[in-house]
Amino acid sequence: MRFDIITLFPEMFEAVLGVSIIGRARKKGIVELNFHNLRDYSQDKHRRVDDYPYGGGLGMVMQCQPIFSAVEKISEGLNDKPHVILMSPKGQTFTQNKAKELLQYNNIIIICGHYEGIDQRVVDGLVDEEISIGDYVLTGGEIAAMAVVDATARLLPGVLKEEDSYNIETFGNGLLEYPQYTRPVEFRGMRVPEILLSGHHENIEKWRKYQSLRETYTKRPDLIKNAVLTKEEEDILSK
Ligand code: ADE
Repeated sequence: MRFDIITLFPEMFEAVLGVSIIGRARKKGIVELNFHNLRDYSQDKHRRVDDYPYGGGLGMVMQCQPIFSAVEKISEGLNDKPHVILMSPKGQTFTQNKAKELLQYNNIIIICGHYEGIDQRVVDGLVDEEISIGDYVLTGGEIAAMAVVDATARLLPGVLKEEDSYNIETFGNGLLEYPQYTRPVEFRGMRVPEILLSGHHENIEKWRKYQSLRETYTKRPDLIKNAVLTKEEEDILSK
């Protein structure tokens, strides 16, 4: 899978997506990331990419030409037609399900917005979908783009170690994860729940399921209605 990210700040990305799990996945060739400086595509002699808004008002608006040129140039080098995403607080909210959905595309181009906005003709004539990472306004789309790339790329086969993928299978059901503990058994008077020390795998599994439901029910009850529950989980909830 390949992501091409169009941004005014390409240097922001390597610190986050050049290390750890995604950094390793790139080295293994599972995911390819390319960062493109929008100014490189401007036909203006001063490499301008923004201008004043028609109709007046504060702030600058990102122009069509550099963004259209960037998407067209990048697309020329691709075998498949890319899926074009604009990071924007006006988009649909990003979720785990959306990350899974994006796996269907071999090529994704992400446009990071900046300034007060972006010429609407980019949205109407170029963009397949707008994605927001939450109901707040960032100074630019870069942090949002990193979240989308990270959450999507980690789902590609071979990116996570087997034991982590197992967790995805278990919690791909839309529930929050159960509490985890590691050594020591006691820290500042707080003990690891006895059941986890019992070695009784079946009971541990049951306990984890219950904890997962309890966490979700108390912290994010809104998730329960969309979760895909087993009969056993339904039974626990109905008690
Ligand atoms: N750009 C500015 N705010 C954003 C948000 N919440 N999500 C995606 N892109 C953005």
